[in-house]
Amino acid sequence: MSTFDTPIDRRDSDSIKWGKYAGRDILPLWVADMDFAAPPPVIAALQRRIEHGVFGYGGPWPSLTESVLAHLETEYSWRIEPEWIVWLPGLVSGLNIACRAVDGEVLTATPIYPPFLSAPYFSGRPLHRAELVRTENGWRFDHAALKSALTAATRLFLLCHPHNPVGRCWNRDELLDLAAFAEANDLVVCSDEIHCGLVLDADKRHIPFASLSAQAAKRSITLMAPSKTFNIPGLGCAFAVIPDAKLRHRFERAMAGIVPHVNVLGLAACEVAYRDSGDWHHELIDYLRANRDLVFATVSQEKGVKMTPVEATYLAWIDVRELGLVKPAEHFEAHGLGLSDGADFGAPGWLRMNFGCPRSTLEEALKRFSIACRAA
Ligand SMILES: Cc1ncc(COP(=O)(O)O)c(C=O)c1O
Repeated sequence: MSTFDTPIDRRDSDSIKWGKYAGRDILPLWVADMDFAAPPPVIAALQRRIEHGVFGYGGPWPSLTESVLAHLETEYSWRIEPEWIVWLPGLVSGLNIACRAVDGEVLTATPIYPPFLSAPYFSGRPLHRAELVRTENGWRFDHAALKSALTAATRLFLLCHPHNPVGRCWNRDELLDLAAFAEANDLVVCSDEIHCGLVLDADKRHIPFASLSAQAAKRSITLMAPSKTFNIPGLGCAFAVIPDAKLRHRFERAMAGIVPHVNVLGLAACEVAYRDSGDWHHELIDYLRANRDLVFATVSQEKGVKMTPVEATYLAWIDVRELGLVKPAEHFEAHGLGLSDGADFGAPGWLRMNFGCPRSTLEEALKRFSIACRAA
């Protein structure tokens, strides 16, 4: 029995995940938060902070910065300087700021987490897309497609690493190819690494794009947060790491007057999440790995649906096109299962399933999944 086995009732709470289907018997496996309580050290730190009773504007303090630096070095062998950090209320803000801070057109690889598609639009920047390719060995970048999508005015590449929704943990060779592509075409790489603590395969390791080389670091904006890994996205605490001073100043300039101070509870949670929650994190990864295997086994045995193995994230990206459904997400909702619609990720006919939930919830969801597939 794992602590993650115990369901916590999130109905009638502030949860947007559960609120979407309030009053309907639809299990919500859509938006990317998990149905698990935060690590006990995080909850204790929040309680201590609340006890203090004063909630004025806050900023980072030395032991928090120390915790971030130590975490990045221990987990990813990535050494950064404290002044490279720019605190943010969220990564989506970071994606939008990056689009405003880098003067030029934007390139990304699809399918992709929807704010990668909307941030360039909101920022008045043309967006160019290159499709990822699904090979027998899983999802890959298509370098010919990237080259042909590029224009002379493209200056920013939005990278999702690990990738939401396809679940790839990009390896060193793939990242080096991207770094060479960025160097050859003078691109800034904004690398969204929010899922970096969720690598599920024991033989894989997250490599921050900026840690590849001094040249890669110079053209990088890395976005990170403890929010996905420790399940605290509602606390609004994230950060960018921008080694190049000029690029960092442009990024800060684009934030000015728009982006508020970071929530003090988020900052308090961040320090202990990174420093004191290792045991909880190990247990989580084991639990998610077993959930992932269950999803893969179920999807593999149904006709008309396919998925590739998920290396990282708690999100399964499922191809349901062969079921021939006009509105796949609605069909699954009609069978009691709320999944994310691939159309929002630039891939109609696909669905994304969030398996960050207790096993009993997942087993019921997978039962409904199978029934929905057979009813198509
Ligand atoms: C790749 C990616 N980036 C950013 C976010 C959201 O970040 P935030 O809540 O910090 O804005 C998500 C959430 O699902 C995500 O998957």
